[in-house]
Amino acid sequence: MKIMASIAPSILAADFRILGDQIAQAEAGGGNRIHVDVMDGHFVPNLSIGLPVVVACRAATALPVEVHLMISAPERYLTAFAEAGGSLLIVHAEATPHAHRAVQVVRDLGLRAGLALNPGTPLDHFRPLLPDLDLALVMSVNPGFGGQRFIPRTLERLALLREWRDALNPDCEIEVDGGVNLETVRACVSAGADVLVAGSAVYNTTGTVGDNIADLQRALTDSGTTR
Ligand code: DX5
Ligand code: ZN
Repeated sequence: MKIMASIAPSILAADFRILGDQIAQAEAGGGNRIHVDVMDGHFVPNLSIGLPVVVACRAATALPVEVHLMISAPERYLTAFAEAGGSLLIVHAEATPHAHRAVQVVRDLGLRAGLALNPGTPLDHFRPLLPDLDLALVMSVNPGFGGQRFIPRTLERLALLREWRDALNPDCEIEVDGGVNLETVRACVSAGADVLVAGSAVYNTTGTVGDNIADLQRALTDSGTTR
């Protein structure tokens, strides 16, 4: 039986020399949205990409472009990322004392709003904001780098969040990000995830982007656990 989930290819692992082509491959291969990882070298110990790349992604695909803001005080840049073409902006609860305000601002800009929590942050931080969220992102690695190993305790967090989500805001999507691959994808969805971010499992040298997405989807189709 197939268990349903969306796949969000993360371009962090893509070949930036041919980014438009890499995004087109993700779209043609069945990716459901494009995940863009913005890092500031302050909130996380890495620098990645910013506004011009979001503009380029927006121009390269008809899919929604979700922007994962791993930056301190993200409220400074919400309007700019909206103007750049983001469809959904995700802020980290750890990055601002005003997460609720940031979510309100994103929605007032006419976009969907997401909140992310690091693996070491109590899941309770989601509860007061859940009714106002379009997406709750559970980090399954410590943010900042692609290609890290999935933290198994994430599954318990997904299951608990799923209970809260079903009770408080069934419209809020649950997303998991980090170490999602053929070994972990099915457990993530069985535990409660609706959206799977996948970077190195989609963009790698072992398969084409389309084949890698198809493999992830096939891993959700095997007979076995359903929820
Ligand atoms: C990590 C980023 C992820 C990253 C995932 O901080 O938020 O989106 O691209 O990469 P993989 O799928 O390789 O773990
Ligand atoms: Zn991410």
